[in-house]
Amino acid sequence: MDPHRVILGEADLEGHNTDWLGMVRGASKVLLKPRNTEEVSTILKYCNDRRLAVCPQGGNTGLVGGSVPVFDEIIISTSLMTEIESVDRLSGVITCQSGCVLEALDQYAAEYGLMVPLDLGAKGSCHIGGNVSTNAGGLRVLRYGSLHGSVLGVEAVLASGEIVNCLSAMKKDNTGYDLKHLFIGSEGTLGIITKIAINCPPRPQAVNLSFLGLQTFDDVLTTFREAKDKLGEILSSCEFIDSSSMQCVEENLKLKPPIEPHPFYMLIETSGSNSSHDEEKLSSFLDYALGSGIVTDGTVATEPSRMQHIWSLRERIAEALVKDGYTYKYDISLPHSEFYKMVEDMRNHLGTGVIRCCGYGHIGDGNLHLNITTQEFDKNVLNQIEPAVYEWTAKVNGSVSAEHGLGFKKRNFMHYSKSLGAINLMKQLKSLMDPNGILNPYKVLPET
Ligand code: FAD
Ligand code: MLT
Ligand code: ZN
Repeated sequence: MDPHRVILGEADLEGHNTDWLGMVRGASKVLLKPRNTEEVSTILKYCNDRRLAVCPQGGNTGLVGGSVPVFDEIIISTSLMTEIESVDRLSGVITCQSGCVLEALDQYAAEYGLMVPLDLGAKGSCHIGGNVSTNAGGLRVLRYGSLHGSVLGVEAVLASGEIVNCLSAMKKDNTGYDLKHLFIGSEGTLGIITKIAINCPPRPQAVNLSFLGLQTFDDVLTTFREAKDKLGEILSSCEFIDSSSMQCVEENLKLKPPIEPHPFYMLIETSGSNSSHDEEKLSSFLDYALGSGIVTDGTVATEPSRMQHIWSLRERIAEALVKDGYTYKYDISLPHSEFYKMVEDMRNHLGTGVIRCCGYGHIGDGNLHLNITTQEFDKNVLNQIEPAVYEWTAKVNGSVSAEHGLGFKKRNFMHYSKSLGAINLMKQLKSLMDPNGILNPYKVLPET
């Protein structure tokens, strides 16, 4: 491999050894930048033969400490694997290497009138391979479903260096076990994803975004239900923000919401093919919501710059929280009936010993982002939160990781959401596909 694709210097490795939240740090001494599948295969065969552990890395925006080494694992970066192999305008399938940056891939899709069915705040840095490896959710799962549905094919390299080609671009393929699903969401522990075939829907021609203010969480739930009923097929996103999260964005990023302060806010987006039809539908929904009092203030944006400003209030909450100091970050699935109770209970439980305890997230998917901040890491605060937060989640049959994965930080909490039988089967799959345990060790699977 050319020397400039082998990174050795401590300073050059610093950003790759530290996660986005600045909370997890490894001590790798080498990072490799393969250009294609064959190079990934050669590297893995070499490492496997010598029992050298590796850590696959995309954009390093993961939030559970999965993307950085724990000790001195060799980092294998997909940053040079950015080729787009083909676009089928009729079927909408794009086939590309795994290092394509999500936003760049989406811009490319736009040239063909398509869109990548995934959008998230980290789009400018995360790679499509990282997205698939974490089964990232994001802002439009409500409309386009998860990557288990959108990804049609995957090419991956096993620990042994063997290349597994499951790169079908067919929408229907029932030829035996659908192995691509093993790589989707396995966070680099079963193989390195080198190529992806993804189904991209037509890019909507009309997009409208409303920003609403609400008085109670019950009103948030009623508004979500009414939005589903009244907006139907054009509803493309439904997000919520509580006042504490909004205060954080205002204080730490100096961004201003377009309406007066409220206890809760919602973003409701519609996407369709006929702007006058969509606008009419959205404005009659808003007339209803304001008239019935479930929403007490609201505004609609259609111009890209206003929409972008409103989206930044939601997408940049994670960044705003980091500026408080230390973030205790939880990403959980809960039944809607219990959703905000979790934040209220935790707030009461923690009292005044924290800067803030806030909730926001993908209400349309039942996915709460519960975040607590302190100036610096405080073990007592952590002990007050964990395992209480996981016990609470398990009691209502929720999931302790809705979309971020388990990585290094959450792996020992898997049993709160998975049966022993399921965990054992996962361990057997890991032994089969990576018998020497070189692929992203200490991640996903519990220690014992
Ligand atoms: P990395 O962070 O580099 O890696 C993530 C994991 O995948 C690691 O375990 C890594 O080893 C593995 N991996 C990476 N590439 C490969 C590969 N080619 N083959 C095998 N394994 C690989 N997540 C959501 O689900 N929804 C959100 O809305 C969301 N919003 C975010 C907003 C911000 C501001 C940030 C910082 C993160 C957000 N995330 C979100 C978390 C994160 O999961 C996603 O950003 C993204 O999917 C990670 O992609 P990445 O390329 O950065 O992967
Ligand atoms: C989000 O939806 O903003 C992301 O998942 C990041 C976060 O949880 O803060
Ligand atoms: Zn999220």
